[in-house]
Amino acid sequence: MMQGADEVENVSKSFDEDLHSLPLEELKNKYLSKKGLISKLLEKIPTLPPQERRDFGKYVNNLKKHIEETIKELETANQTNEVSGGRRILFDNDVTLEGKKPPLGNKHILFKARDELMEIFKSMGFSFFDGPELETDFYNFEALNFPPYHPARDMQDTLVVGEKVLRTHSSAMQVRAMQTWGVPIKAILPGRVYRREEVSARKYPVFYQFDCLAVGKTIGVGHLKWTLETFLSAYFEKNVTVRFRPSYFPFVEPGNEVDVKCVFCDGKGCSVCGGTGWLEILGAGMVHPTVLEYAGVDPDQFSGFAFGVGVDRMAMLKYGINDIRLLYEGDVNFLGSL
Ligand code: DAH
Repeated sequence: MMQGADEVENVSKSFDEDLHSLPLEELKNKYLSKKGLISKLLEKIPTLPPQERRDFGKYVNNLKKHIEETIKELETANQTNEVSGGRRILFDNDVTLEGKKPPLGNKHILFKARDELMEIFKSMGFSFFDGPELETDFYNFEALNFPPYHPARDMQDTLVVGEKVLRTHSSAMQVRAMQTWGVPIKAILPGRVYRREEVSARKYPVFYQFDCLAVGKTIGVGHLKWTLETFLSAYFEKNVTVRFRPSYFPFVEPGNEVDVKCVFCDGKGCSVCGGTGWLEILGAGMVHPTVLEYAGVDPDQFSGFAFGVGVDRMAMLKYGINDIRLLYEGDVNFLGSL
């Protein structure tokens, strides 16, 4: 074996190791400077037997070339790449490199709107009541004063599962809430509801609602109006004007549709309010005595108001979304853009 070959190999090995740990300048110094390891190897040449000098010289020069080229590559790589903490970007499998940051998720816009709404009611001292999505006919209809075969049941196309129904509205929790917590009560009943609907820009067979229910000894229409104005002003972040239009829901008397003066055009008429200057927002009314009776509450002593809000509609209005399907179809580009 050629004399001095191990020494060359040792230098080659140590270079491979230092490559991963030494800063570039030190690396250059250690191997390529006048007093560097390559020079040291070359200095040995005159001490070798003459017939071996050529091969040894070639061997060292090959290593030198390899080291020079590698360092050059590193220098250009460092110019084009970010260098962090003096570390070099070298190999794909260098575990010390900073990884690519995975994109961070954000809260779904529907739940952002829901949480904003819930926060408002929390700050107004309401409690939150939860009930089942698979509901009995009793709580979804009968206790809300929809008798069997009552035509008002057709107002909502119901999905039936065996003996039960998928609740068609969050009002289904009203009687449960009063039975569970008793009266007086001041509660928000939020949840997912279902209807047999064709999917369109405005309708989806599953969506979110909440009912607001307040029952006490002296609750009147004034409390309803104040609560509506207060929560809608907080949600839309401006003082809103509401108007009541008489309407019919079996579980309230009187019943009303509640409109808000368009928060986008201030009532002048725009594309969001369809030129009417008003946004139809929710249904409301004074709890029907029959509903109180079903809940075991004496309607001669207690009265209350209730209203029901579509969370989807509220989210769409606030965040300028004109197609409900966008809320349910998980298009990451759309959801990430909000
Ligand atoms: N449950 C009704 C619906 O889904 C909305 C509603 C109307 C709720 C009037 C109420 C109310 O609490 O008083 O269409």
